[in-house]
Amino acid sequence: MEYCKHHTIKENPLILGIESSCDETAAAIIRGREILSDEILSSAPTQALYGGVVPEIASREHTIAIDEVVQRALKSAGVGKSELDAVAVTYGAGLLGSLLVGLSFAKSFAYTLGIPLIAVNHIRGHLAAAYLVDRALRPPFVSLLASGGHTAVLFTPTETEFELIGSTLDDAAGEAFDKCARVLSLPYPGGPNIEKLAREGEANIAFPKMCHGGENFRFSYSGLKTAVINYCHTKEQKGEPYNKADVAASFQKAAIDVLVEKTVEAALRKGVDTVTAGGGVIANGYLRDTLSAACRRAGLKLVLPEKRYCTDNAAMIASEGFIQYKVRNFAPLSVNARAAIPLAERRQTE
Ligand SMILES: Nc1ncnc2c1ncn2[C@@H]1O[C@H](COP(=O)(O)OP(=O)(O)O)[C@@H](O)[C@H]1O
Ligand SMILES: [Mg+2]
Repeated sequence: MEYCKHHTIKENPLILGIESSCDETAAAIIRGREILSDEILSSAPTQALYGGVVPEIASREHTIAIDEVVQRALKSAGVGKSELDAVAVTYGAGLLGSLLVGLSFAKSFAYTLGIPLIAVNHIRGHLAAAYLVDRALRPPFVSLLASGGHTAVLFTPTETEFELIGSTLDDAAGEAFDKCARVLSLPYPGGPNIEKLAREGEANIAFPKMCHGGENFRFSYSGLKTAVINYCHTKEQKGEPYNKADVAASFQKAAIDVLVEKTVEAALRKGVDTVTAGGGVIANGYLRDTLSAACRRAGLKLVLPEKRYCTDNAAMIASEGFIQYKVRNFAPLSVNARAAIPLAERRQTE
C-alpha cells in the first residue's frame, strides 16, 4: 500500500531536503521553490588528509553531523518539525554507507511526523537546482549536466521527464578534473584546485578536443586525460621544465569548450529558448563565463545556479522532492539506498 496515501497535496509545501551521498551532510528547507534554509557540514577537510573520500570515514562523519545539520536547517528557517509537509532524501547514487545515514534519518523523521517520504535521485537533484534560481522556470529547456559521475546534455519536456541527447562514452568531466589534478599533484578536491591554478596560466597547449563538432552529442574524457599524462611524463622524462599552470589552463579549456559548444547546439536544434545547468563542474568560473557568453550570442536564456547550488547541497534535493511531491511519487518506508541509479528510474510506488 502506498505510504501516506491520504496526504492532501499542497500548492507550496514545506519540504525538508536531506543529502548524504558523499562527503557533505546537508539539510535544507524550501517552501514551494523558495529556499528558507540551507545547511552543510562537510567532511572534505578530513578527507583531504587521505587524498580523496574514504567511505568509512564519510559514513561516520554523517552519523555525527546529521542531527545537528537538520536542527540547524529547521532553526534558521524558523520552521517547527510539525509544520513540515514532506521529507525528501537522496537514496542514490552514492556511497552506500553514507546514503544509509541520511535515508534512515529521513525515514524515521517522515514516519514519526506521518508525512510523505520522497526518495530522490541525486543527479536529478543537481538538475532541479535550476528551479530554485528562477522560480518562473518552466520546461521545455535543454540542460547541461556536468558532475563527478555524469556528463550529459538533456532535453526536459516536462518537470518529471527528460530525454538524453548525449552523454560521455567514458569518464565524466568532474572525474577528468580530479584525475588531471592528481597528475599535477594538486590536493583534493581536484576541480576547484585546477581552476585556481589555471588562473595563473595560459591555455597554450593544444590538447585534443574530444568528439569535437560534427553531428554528435557524445563526450569522451579518457583521451584528454591520457594526453595530459603523456605531456607531463614526456617533459619529466626529458628533464624539460613545464608550466603546470599552463597545463591546468589548457586542460580546463579543452574539457569545457566542448561542453559549452554542444549544449548550445542542442538547444538550437531542439528549438528551445532556455538552457539550464547543474552539477559540481558548473561551479567552474571558466565554464560559467563561456557558457554565459555562448548563450548570449545564440539568444538563449541561461539559468545558472549559484556555485553553492552546483556542488552537493540539500536545497536541490528538496527541489526535486517538490517535483515528485506534486505527482505523489512517495517512497515506501522499505525503500533502500542504491549505489548506482540510471538517470531515469521508475516511480517509487511501482
Ligand atoms: N570549480 C570547479 N571546477 C571544475 N570542477 C569542479 C569544480 N568544483 C567541483 N568540481 C568537480 O565536481 C565534481 C563533484 O560534483 P558533483 O556534482 O557533486 O558530482 P557527483 O554528484 O556526480 O558525485 C568533482 O569531480 C569536482 O572535481
Ligand atoms: Mg553531487
